[in-house]
Formats: sequence, structure tokens, C-alpha cells
Amino acid sequence: MLIKEVCILGGSGFVGSAIVAKLAAAGYSVKVLTRRRDNAKHLFLLPKVQVIECNVLDYQALNSALRGADAVINLLGILHQGRRVNFNAIHHQLPAQLAKICKDLNIKRLVHMSSLRAGKNAPSQYLRSKGAGETALVSHLDELNITIFKPSIIFGRGDSFINLFASLVKVLPVVMLAKPNAKFQPIWVEDVASCFVACLADRASYGQTYELAGPKVYTFRELVQAVMNTLQVQRPIIGLSDGLSYAQAFMMEILPIKLMSRDNIRSMEADSVSEQAFPAIFNLTPTSLETLIPQYLVDQTPRGAYDRFRRSAAR
Ligand SMILES: NC(=O)c1ccc[n+]([C@@H]2O[C@H](COP(=O)([O-])OP(=O)(O)OC[C@H]3O[C@@H](n4cnc5c(N)ncnc54)[C@H](OP(=O)(O)O)[C@@H]3O)[C@@H](O)[C@H]2O)c1
Repeated sequence: MLIKEVCILGGSGFVGSAIVAKLAAAGYSVKVLTRRRDNAKHLFLLPKVQVIECNVLDYQALNSALRGADAVINLLGILHQGRRVNFNAIHHQLPAQLAKICKDLNIKRLVHMSSLRAGKNAPSQYLRSKGAGETALVSHLDELNITIFKPSIIFGRGDSFINLFASLVKVLPVVMLAKPNAKFQPIWVEDVASCFVACLADRASYGQTYELAGPKVYTFRELVQAVMNTLQVQRPIIGLSDGLSYAQAFMMEILPIKLMSRDNIRSMEADSVSEQAFPAIFNLTPTSLETLIPQYLVDQTPRGAYDRFRRSAAR
């Protein structure tokens, strides 16, 4: 089936913005559903991209917004539960409703974002709810052409993980690091976006689940060290025991800004590492973190800060 119009949930976010830009460049018409148009204002000028306000958790509203689409991409995800929203609603109920609406509207193509290590027996609520979302979708494989992606941590300009640690190491005299030996296999956001766009019209990806992980495995400590090396900032890293990691996260849950929760720590009990080779179907060699973080953290290095001041002073 020829896909012309793609509707995307979560298109305003970090990964979504990269996917929307690539979809637009590939000539698709893209409808981005968002809670607030302002959240997606950086997408307004992209060709053939429409930003629509929609409460995607409302069945009728979502049903109306998806009318006319040939394919749907679902990227909705949260790392922290709140009073009004929880993992189950976003990661499980929403994909289940989405599949139902796609069937009602005869939209056959659905591409869904899950997470590496998501599953029924995963250690955290985040990962279990993502697993429940996958299970809900897999039950529709007879009627819908579904592809599921399970990435490790995703990095790139505007990411929350690397940038958070870049900010912290600049102000903290010592880094008290929870779960220092937890493992990650970071994948570049542009590589993830390329896979989403490439799979859309590729029948070979129908019914498939792909793990996406970068070329190298890092411990949490090594990742923070890589950030410090890039910024030319050296701070002692004190690795916390499991007990202290949970205690630190508990304290952070009380803060108004959500940095880390106990559920995030539980997610790190399962190494975010893939045992599979990068999916050959995408014909892509994933880009390494070391190649890229100097580019996007460059404004935060001493030299980058100097260049930034010079630019702002128009010199
Ligand atoms: N970033 C990573 O390292 C990583 C790793 C593995 C998997 N993932 C998965 O990849 C997906 C995208 O991640 P991301 O880093 O791009 O996240 P993000 O920047 O936080 O974007 C998430 C999107 O979800 C929407 N959203 C958030 N809370 C919502 C709510 N309560 N109701 C309705 N919509 C809501 C937001 O849309 P509006 O604000 O426009 O409404 C936002 O655009 C998520 O499913 C995430 O679990 C990410």
C-alpha cells in the first residue's frame, strides 16, 4: 500500500522531532499530534508538516485525528508517573486503543516505540508497562502491519540523559552516581529516526520487532566520564551502593524537578544492552557516542563557550 500521510504521536519530543524532519525530507505529509501546539513550534516550518492539538488519551479525539492517515507512528512515553498520568495509561492502554482505532479506520501500518529490556518480567514498572504495550500490539499482527522498535538509551543534540550529566558535572564538586556499573549501549537519535523512516514502506519489516543499540557498551560510570572528558571537566565519581542508589532516588522524587526515581533505578537492574547484531534490513552502521558528543556538547566546553560569547557579541 502506498503511504502518503503519516500521523505521529509524540512527534514533538526528542526522538519525534528527528523522525518528523526525516519524514518531511522524504516527502511524506506528516500530522503531529500534541497536547499543546507550542510544544511542537520548532516543527511549524517543515514542509508538509501539520501540528494538531489532540488529547491522544481520549478515544474519540484520537479517532478523529487519525482519520485520513495511511500510517501511524507511536512514540508516546514517560519516565515518571504523575498524579494525572501513569505508565499503564501511556505505555499499555494507549497502544492498545491505537491498534483498535487503526483497525476501525482501516489504517494498516503502525510503527511503535518500546524499549530495550521491556517485558513482563522486567525489573521496573516503566519496562513492564512498555512490555504490556508490545503484547497488546502483537495480538493484532493478523490484521495490522506492525513494527516495534526497542532501543537502548538514545543520545543526540537535545537528549535529556547526556545533557543532564553535562549540566550536573559543571556545578557539582563530586558526582554521587547511582548504579555506576549499569550498562548501556547508546544509539544516536538520527540512526533511530532513519530506521523508523526506512521501515515505513518496507514490507519485510511488517510483524517484526527490532532491538536498536549502538556500537559500544558503556557502564554508567564510563558514560559520565566520557561527558567529563568532552567538557574538559574532571570531578571525582563516587559510585553508590544499591541501597544508597535507591535512597538518593527516593530523595530526588521529592524534588519538584524529576531527575531520577526509584523506578528509573529499577530499570537499570537490567542492562540496556542488545545481544543481537544491528538489524541488517536497515543497512546502517550505527554512529558512536564519542564521535558525536563533542559536536553537540561543544557549546559547553571552555572553547565552545568562548566561541558562543564571540558570536553573541557579533565578533
Ligand atoms: N530517549 C531515550 O533515551 C529513549 C530510550 C528508549 C526508548 N525511548 C522511548 O522513545 C519514545 C520517545 O522518547 P523521547 O525521548 O523522544 O521522549 P520525549 O522527548 O519526552 O517525548 C515524548 C512525547 O510524548 C508526549 N507526551 C509526554 N507525556 C504525555 C502525556 N502525559 N500525554 C500525552 N502525550 C505525552 C509528548 O508530546 P506533547 O508534549 O507534544 O504532547 C512528547 O512529545 C518514548 O516512548 C520513550 O519511552 C526513549
